[in-house]
Amino acid sequence: MPYPHQIKSFEEYKAAYKKSVEAPEEFWAEIAENFTWKKKWDTVLNWNFEEPKIEWFKGGKLNITENCLDRHLETKGDQPAIIWEANDPEEHHRILTYKRLHEKVCMFAHVLKNNGVKKGDRVCIYMGMIPELAIAVLACARLGAIHSVIFGGFSAQSIADRLIDAQAEYIITCDGAFRGAKDIPLKSVIDDALIGIRFVKKVIVYTRTHTPVSMIKGRDVWWDDEIKKVETLGLHDFPAEEMDAEDPLFILYTSGSTGKPKGVVHTCGGYMIFTNYTFVNVFQYQPKDVHFCTADIGWITGHSYIVYGPLSAGASSLIFEGIPTYPDASRFWKIIEKFKVNVFYTAPTAIRSLMGHGDAPLENADVSSLKVLGTVGEPINEEAWHWYDQKVGKGKCPVVDTWWQTETGGILISNMAGVTPSRPGWATLPLPGIQPVLLDEKGNEIPETAGELTTGNLCIKFPWPGILRTTYGDHERCRLTYFSAYPGLYFTGDGAFRDKEGFFRITGRVDDVLNVSGHRIGTAEVENAINMHAGVVESAVVGFPHEIKGQGIYAYVIYNGREDTDDRNRKDILATVTRIIGAIAKPDKIQFVKNLPKTRSGKIMRRILRKMAEGDTQNLGDTSTLLDPAVVDEIKDGRL
Ligand code: PRX
Repeated sequence: MPYPHQIKSFEEYKAAYKKSVEAPEEFWAEIAENFTWKKKWDTVLNWNFEEPKIEWFKGGKLNITENCLDRHLETKGDQPAIIWEANDPEEHHRILTYKRLHEKVCMFAHVLKNNGVKKGDRVCIYMGMIPELAIAVLACARLGAIHSVIFGGFSAQSIADRLIDAQAEYIITCDGAFRGAKDIPLKSVIDDALIGIRFVKKVIVYTRTHTPVSMIKGRDVWWDDEIKKVETLGLHDFPAEEMDAEDPLFILYTSGSTGKPKGVVHTCGGYMIFTNYTFVNVFQYQPKDVHFCTADIGWITGHSYIVYGPLSAGASSLIFEGIPTYPDASRFWKIIEKFKVNVFYTAPTAIRSLMGHGDAPLENADVSSLKVLGTVGEPINEEAWHWYDQKVGKGKCPVVDTWWQTETGGILISNMAGVTPSRPGWATLPLPGIQPVLLDEKGNEIPETAGELTTGNLCIKFPWPGILRTTYGDHERCRLTYFSAYPGLYFTGDGAFRDKEGFFRITGRVDDVLNVSGHRIGTAEVENAINMHAGVVESAVVGFPHEIKGQGIYAYVIYNGREDTDDRNRKDILATVTRIIGAIAKPDKIQFVKNLPKTRSGKIMRRILRKMAEGDTQNLGDTSTLLDPAVVDEIKDGRL
């Protein structure tokens, strides 16, 4: 049996779930036995959600890279760990076996050490989707440094904010990244971010695009030069740093309902066990399967299901540099054909977008190797689900709808491929170890027997090994954001339906967080960026249903700047948002208004703006508390 903790039937699932609730410590300790520890833990779990304090396997010593690399060398040394497909289909792909990946990680860990990086230091990684990104991440983990990967679409300003928050003294980047027809100058964005930042000691630059870059003496070094030095000394191994299970592994910044993204902290032991367990069970991974997760490593999905989950399970994980529509809309299907992909995991946005290109791109590719399909990041509409199931999976591949968050580390609610029942649009049942509850508007738990179909705010009442431990540098913020709305519970920020069988359907965020193409963006963050524009007096941002992206961004803006056409002013505002956050946060629609609907106490009534952005101008609800009800008509008339 390759994975002793792999559940093989619905009956086994029910038994595992029952045990995980009745004896959670015993349940997780048994799973933890399947990993390599340098020293066993003292206690399985210490916790309270009031502070919050959550410790799993405290006192246990390990290094996650020994679990992701070293322990596979004997049996899987020559198997592909990473299969890499370039942006340009003409460029040769690369395969890194477990032996080769181990060696590369060790050598780069030496490079980090030679450049001054020590255990506990924060290292910011800003790279394109190339194997060196995974190598950089793993080399940090090897040495005990805390990595903070920033998605390549974020702006210099966003990077600077994150560098300051994490006090990251080291950066690993590329000259540039290829994405579709574009060539993104990553190093130059880093240079902009570093204007005014003095504490960064070293920037290590990998050559990918040969874009001209400015290398600053004393600060910037080339990846290849540094590797050559290590090579000359014959340093092909690097002793894995001994880490406590509760030492931080990484920080990943994510948006919330306030203006500033927060650094979600995950730790070495619990995160490893949880990503491995969920990977093996949800996707029902079998040895030698090729696993293709299309997310960027800059998001949690890439951390958990390209790097740590698959590699800790000795899997072959495919990294794709490009985008689904380059050079045409058959690219994913061609990659599946080329590498005989067995597990394919993507976002509903990608599915909807490819569905829009019709069936022809699929008909030209052989996708018969597929065994399991997965979705993540946003609710999937039934039409897209059926297209995915029928056209991509040919009706023979279970589709897993995986619900989780940056904060949860791994999947919490999902069917398990071919093992537990699936239902279009439903994430279905919680995984073993996960105890979800629904809360009504008064904050009371809705009993499971409450009716055929109940709905409420989704919370989790018991910790699992992959839950966030803190938000970097500000524990109180962690408490306030996740553990204060409903005392004693972790609040997800999502709403959900639950039916009488205990199946969950996630309806989306109930807070001021948008989910655009599966990317989380806070409305306050976008408003702050818009308000930076010199001509903007005030703005309010809401989401609206978008056919492809799931949600689009609708901005209402009071403008009193340079007189010009609305079109030009809009473009200036978009340029401002791109500079402050990045292109991913650009509003789809900007409506100029004279006033915003406010209550007498000055609070913007977003409910009304949301309704109007959705196109519903009739059911605006009670508008009597508005300071000036006429504002509503003016906004209605100017709708886009
Ligand atoms: O609203 C939920 C939505 O994505 C949010 C988490 O976003 P992020 O931290 O960026 O992580 C995305 C990848 C795990 C959740 O609060 N979400 C995620 N998966 C699903 C989902 N909504 C519905 N169905 C899902 N399967």
